[in-house]
Amino acid sequence: AANAQWGGRFAGGPSAIMRAINVSIGFDKAMWRQDIAGSLAHAAMLAKVGIISAADEAAIREGLTEIGREIETGTFVFEDALEDIHMNIEARLSERVGEAGKRLHTARSRNDQVATDFRLWVRDSIDGLSAQVSALMRSLATRALEYADTAMPGFTHLQTAQPVTFGHHLLAYVEMLSRDRWRLADARKRLNECPLGSAALAGTSFPIDRKMTAATLGFDRPTANSLDAVSDRDFALEYLSALSIMAMHLSRFAEEIVIWCSAPFSFIRLSDAFTTGSSIMPQKRNPDAAELARAKVGRVLGSFVGLLTVMKGLPLAYAKDMQEDKLPVFEATEAMTLTLAACDGMVRDLTANGAQMRRFAGSGYSTATDLADWLVRVLKLPFRTAHHVTGRLVAMAEAKGVDLGELTLAEMQLVEPGITEDVFSVLSVDASIASRTSEGGTAGSNVRRQADIWLTQLNGE
Ligand code: ARG
Repeated sequence: AANAQWGGRFAGGPSAIMRAINVSIGFDKAMWRQDIAGSLAHAAMLAKVGIISAADEAAIREGLTEIGREIETGTFVFEDALEDIHMNIEARLSERVGEAGKRLHTARSRNDQVATDFRLWVRDSIDGLSAQVSALMRSLATRALEYADTAMPGFTHLQTAQPVTFGHHLLAYVEMLSRDRWRLADARKRLNECPLGSAALAGTSFPIDRKMTAATLGFDRPTANSLDAVSDRDFALEYLSALSIMAMHLSRFAEEIVIWCSAPFSFIRLSDAFTTGSSIMPQKRNPDAAELARAKVGRVLGSFVGLLTVMKGLPLAYAKDMQEDKLPVFEATEAMTLTLAACDGMVRDLTANGAQMRRFAGSGYSTATDLADWLVRVLKLPFRTAHHVTGRLVAMAEAKGVDLGELTLAEMQLVEPGITEDVFSVLSVDASIASRTSEGGTAGSNVRRQADIWLTQLNGE
């Protein structure tokens, strides 16, 4: 049979394959709350400007509220034949309230309807994910305060570079996540314009009040161009690009967790709650959650690239290609929701092995730079010369199989006669860390101050 929504023009119904490729209710039913909110706002506006009667509006409001309850309790029957969430809800509304329901679609098209629903959905997700990012930042800052003085090796090229503190390392991720949160907030501002009232593509001849619907739905203003409003999805792309960058950050963090809890490192331990075993090797404790968090960036970036490719080259205005916009956004959102929760769980769960971290913080000639700096500060050597002298001392220590601090003063003086006993005061891990008081440096006092600043800010939000 012909479709009830446009059957006037049609003699027959769609083929099974036409239906199968066209249907989106399987996934876009996720937007049912947004669809009902949009319809409620639209109906209230239609009544206010006199396009429908107050009685019709009341019937629509009651009907939509009932439908919301049906969906919530699982009694609503979603029909594939009705294609998508918009027509499923509208058809049910007409079933429930008759003529009034059939008036709801006045001065509206599914094109501005879906653009509105989708913006609302992305906006809700931005709010949800931002709250999760804040929670993770709070957990990281809390642990950073706890580990403000816990020495660990800082790496470049994954080669021991200079001692840092574990707290400083954790706070680095707080900074990254704060920019991720900022990017989401920024995307939200640009997203927050209401497409409703753009109709199919050209606007409408009805005397609608777009400011009213925009305000009712929490948008800052109506969109300015009807063609743009129904045919662009850059708000979804911005969201996905912000999520991709965030997923990349979390992937790096997850990778560090994997490295830190591998047996040769043993810098941290995850409890049984965040570890899995092996079906064959009884000794294994695998950080699967971290590995999956490391991997999710593939799915999220894939969503971004997928949607960007769908949008590329589409002529204005709406085209059905755009129905492919939702799954990537839904999938990326689900992936990030889980990843943020898993990272937060692991941050709260982990225990640092301070002794092990400290041992490696002092290995690998990690205080060589402190020695070079001492030669500059005390002996007034040019830094390049000091670098060379230190290099020879490291080579000497390496040949003897000892640490820099285990060379005798006499041995050091063979390389640079001006060196005095005082040099030993800068060769310890603690001295190295304590000296890094420059703004943003790793000294424990800096770390405590930064962690406090973050915690105060996050707790005040
Ligand atoms: N299910 C469609 C989508 O998600 C709704 C818009 C349909 N508009 C149309 N002109 N066929 O894009």
